Amino acid sequence: DKGNHRHFMEKEIYEQPEVISHALSHYVDFASNRISDNVNAIDFKTASGLAISACGTAYLAGLVGKYWFERYARLSVEIDVASEFRYREMPLSPSQAALFISQSGETADTLASLRYCKDHGLKIGAVVNVKESTIARESDAVFPIMAGPEIGVASTKAFTCQLAVLASLALGAAKARGTISAEQETELVRHLAEMPRIMSRVLNLIQPQMETLSRELSKCRDVLYLGRGTSFPLAMEGALKLKEISYIHAEGYAAGELKHGPIALIDENMPVIVIAPFDRFFDKTVSNMQEVAARGGRIIFITDEAGAAASKLPTMATIVLPNVNEIIAPMIFSLPIQLLAYHTAVFMGTDVDQPRNLAKSVTVE
Ligand code: F6R
Repeated sequence: DKGNHRHFMEKEIYEQPEVISHALSHYVDFASNRISDNVNAIDFKTASGLAISACGTAYLAGLVGKYWFERYARLSVEIDVASEFRYREMPLSPSQAALFISQSGETADTLASLRYCKDHGLKIGAVVNVKESTIARESDAVFPIMAGPEIGVASTKAFTCQLAVLASLALGAAKARGTISAEQETELVRHLAEMPRIMSRVLNLIQPQMETLSRELSKCRDVLYLGRGTSFPLAMEGALKLKEISYIHAEGYAAGELKHGPIALIDENMPVIVIAPFDRFFDKTVSNMQEVAARGGRIIFITDEAGAAASKLPTMATIVLPNVNEIIAPMIFSLPIQLLAYHTAVFMGTDVDQPRNLAKSVTVE
């Protein structure tokens, strides 16, 4: 049932505050603002490293997770798309832990990567939406994302719930490893707790602007997305979402890679979507944006209030989100990315919930 939404995808985008709140309540104790002990169902404390594997959007959630595990838990992360991971013959040690991220829990390549790690004696954790799935059944510990059924082929609420669970796991790992203090933990958890309310506010705030902008995007043949830090996987997720449902060619790049190739593509016909919260990468990203502007590129700047105040560069549009702590920025910045792709596809009249050539669950290699 779509309720009063035109598509399941739209319904699922607007469900996010509610399902994320539900997901978080499983991993976080809001009364004490502490991470719950169940996140250490995998022994992150003694793990020598973490291997992560997944496909598509789930892989991009894992890439954001890598930044968190490394930064907060000082745990080094080896991550790859499952179709490569399974065949790389990488050396692994039983002292490492492994996480497999899958909405369906049935993706063939992800399952094969899991079995590869199991054969090498690693402890296996599954971040899944379907608790009865094969990937969940074959894991030592299951971390459900509690997103509820996702019908739209393009993943939205599963992505942000995967992020919320990975953030909780990374902070749980940090707590177990003693790499964050109790004060830092309660502070970060307090930000996670605020996230659902901020998401609701942002969804309402940006909706009209996303609809207007999507008319512009629908006229384009190519779109480039740029970001640094955790905004780099988000840039790739934005590009994936747009190409999946609108069939517009899009690419996501690390902003620092711009001058190593993609800058050759910049002209007035190709919008460049820059994802840049006012974090420690902001100035670097803005200088990349400057390079785009100097070549006549049209910029759609997705930033926060502090970022909008700090940059004086002319843009085609600036999407201003509230200032938020960097632990929740990836989830908040996912919202304009999802809505832009959604409205562009609706405007172009594609089959949003069932895009051509795509299946919701990929159980063959
Ligand atoms: C993109 C999308 C796909 C899936 C990928 C993995 O919107 O939905 O890229 O993320 O096929 O699927 P799961 O998570 O079921 O393993």
